[in-house]
Amino acid sequence: MNNRNLLFTLALCCILLTFGAWILSFFHYSAPVRQSPVAQVLPNLQTAPAAELKYAPPRPQDAPEAIREAVMLGYNIINDTAQYAPEHVGNELTCATCHLEGGTSKGSISLVGAAATFPKFSASHATSIDLAQKIQDCFARNLNVAPPAHDSRTMQALLAYLQWISKDIPVYASLPWALPAKLDTAHKPDAAAGEKVYAESCASCHGDAGDGSPPLWGKGAYSDGSTLHNIDTLAVFTHRFMPPEAATLTPEQSLDVAAYVDAQPRPHFEAAQSHAGGGKKSPQGK
Ligand code: HEC
Ligand code: HEC
Repeated sequence: MNNRNLLFTLALCCILLTFGAWILSFFHYSAPVRQSPVAQVLPNLQTAPAAELKYAPPRPQDAPEAIREAVMLGYNIINDTAQYAPEHVGNELTCATCHLEGGTSKGSISLVGAAATFPKFSASHATSIDLAQKIQDCFARNLNVAPPAHDSRTMQALLAYLQWISKDIPVYASLPWALPAKLDTAHKPDAAAGEKVYAESCASCHGDAGDGSPPLWGKGAYSDGSTLHNIDTLAVFTHRFMPPEAATLTPEQSLDVAAYVDAQPRPHFEAAQSHAGGGKKSPQGK
């Protein structure tokens, strides 16, 4: 190889190296802003199937024979807790007061798909909880009573039933019918205005003193540890579902009446109550 060829080869190498470094710099700069694999997958998981999810919970009586009895019992416990799990009722409510038709109605808080979305983070536990723990929470905080133990017939029936009505819902799908955390308004809740809304739109069923049927406050009502004991959640529930089949309040009226109801006295939730166990009634129980 003569000198000229050598120089030419060296020059070519320099050009290639510079070009290579330039190309590489793209990878280098884009690398730090790339998200971790988990962060990239999760948004897809939560948005992709939502639009196509059909709301078609199977009927409890159509469950496979091996689990049908448990599924039917779970369905009955939700609809009439006092009859099918009397030792686990501490006030005048039943699961169906908030989860109509065994939780299959879109006219109240639906339980369809719940089994596919647990374990889930729980703010009150500051960790993720499974479906059985969530059920125990609803007993302790809404029915104000010691919840059924995990290995009890009552709990196993509820789990079988809830799993059955989530059939065909993909694990961790985002449910289009899930309730939003709050209403879309900047309105500041006004309890005094809410008292008027209550008298006009709620008292006919829930009573002037909140002790109607079902009760909204007082000793027969859900405890102050309920997730409904929160102005935003109660406003969403009211705006969507109350009065039943005739929900016409504006978001602002819903927030006002929620602030009024939320300020009324109700049984105090004792954390000790939430421990699984027997059928000990809360002190506020009837
Ligand atoms: C006073 C109203 C009320 C009663 C009574 C009630 N719940 Fe709930 N429940 C709620 C509210 C509000 C939510 C939604 C917010 C949350 O996650 O706590 C909920 C959520 C749930 C969920 C989770 C749903 C999901 O998709 O995350 C399950 C499961 C559940 N309830 C089961 C029950 C069972 C079983 C009973 C009867 C022992 C019951 N609930 C009684 C108000 C109630
Ligand atoms: C026509 C009767 C009627 C009217 C009016 C009515 N409700 Fe209800 N409410 C019910 C019934 C019945 C339930 C039990 C669930 C169901 O059947 O839909 C219920 C359940 C509730 C619940 C959950 C369970 C509980 O008792 O804690 C809340 C909260 C509630 N209503 C709030 C309101 C508010 C606020 C208003 C006024 C804007 C209102 N309701 C108006 C009949 C009524």
